[in-house]
Amino acid sequence: MLSYAAHRLFPVLSVLLALVGFTAVAAHTLPGMHDAFGLPLRLVLVVIWAFFFLNFAVTFAERANILPSLRPALISVDALCAVVPVLTFAFPDGYLCCGIWVLQLVRNSTAFRLISRVIAAEGSNLVGVMAIFITLLLGSALLVYVFERDGQPEAFGSIPKAMWWSIATLSTTGYGDAVPKTMAGSVLGGLIMVCGIGVVALWTGILASGFAEEIRRQDFVRSWQLVGAVPLFRNLGSADLVEIVRALKRRTMPAGTVICRKGEPGDRMFFLADGTVRIAATPPVDLGSGAFFGEIALLTGEPRMATVTAATTVTVLSLHAADFQLLIGRSPELASTIKRVALERQGKAS
Ligand code: CMP
Repeated sequence: MLSYAAHRLFPVLSVLLALVGFTAVAAHTLPGMHDAFGLPLRLVLVVIWAFFFLNFAVTFAERANILPSLRPALISVDALCAVVPVLTFAFPDGYLCCGIWVLQLVRNSTAFRLISRVIAAEGSNLVGVMAIFITLLLGSALLVYVFERDGQPEAFGSIPKAMWWSIATLSTTGYGDAVPKTMAGSVLGGLIMVCGIGVVALWTGILASGFAEEIRRQDFVRSWQLVGAVPLFRNLGSADLVEIVRALKRRTMPAGTVICRKGEPGDRMFFLADGTVRIAATPPVDLGSGAFFGEIALLTGEPRMATVTAATTVTVLSLHAADFQLLIGRSPELASTIKRVALERQGKAS
């Protein structure tokens, strides 16, 4: 029961209550709401705080069941959400500390794990671009200080002040609160804007390709694990296996989903990595994990001979017709197994 609460119920409730809590904090900052509903709003915060205490206690009690790589982050977030609101009693505006609960929104997010992997993988490239950024920032702050300090001492009277202009210009934000007036300062401004666009583009490119690469890698690892459930692939050499894993598309579907329909043209075949499917043949046939189906339409070019429906939640790996032809060309043994099973199934149907 505690395990169920820790793994299913509490994360969802935490996100909902974090949102309610933040809304109550935000409402508290509106003078009208604060005057009219101050007490109920504080009551809401107290109830949510009690929940986050309980949530922390449950996470701590269940820490052995949390993945070791996630354990420190999850325990820290829950501890902060339980403890930081104590500061409510320390300052007049202390209730703002309840804003810490927004951390619950990212607590279970896979995005952070993804970002940390991308940063680890692309770290040296990101540091390289950061070095260019810092060089441009410091260099332009120094130059704009030299060009503008006499005419505009309030905006450019020191290098730290000039840095504010540099960072706003380099990041292409351009607040417009400090603008060079000399010819040299304007030319510098133009150059820095162009360089800023280049640096932002470099950052975006590195992060975008890092994300795409990481998602592809995770996809490959998941499909690789699932391929192990299909006995047909066991005798494939590792090079062929890598090719097939790249070609397979993974999909998880709930019970009742029609995977392919009788009479439709077939453009792919399926390998069942997990669950059970029902073939609407006469008599109906159930296939379990490791089985394959949808091969007959690819071998004969005929429409699908039966409707196939997920009898439970299923995970299927589909192989497109073009990749199927490549696969049977590369592995005669696998081709003959698929053809033999297809013939048996056609024999049963006729
Ligand atoms: P296909 O005709 O492409 O699409 C429906 C699939 O159901 C078919 O390929 C076979 O893979 C599968 N199928 C049809 N009849 C049977 C059967 N009697 N036993 C097992 N599988 C079948």
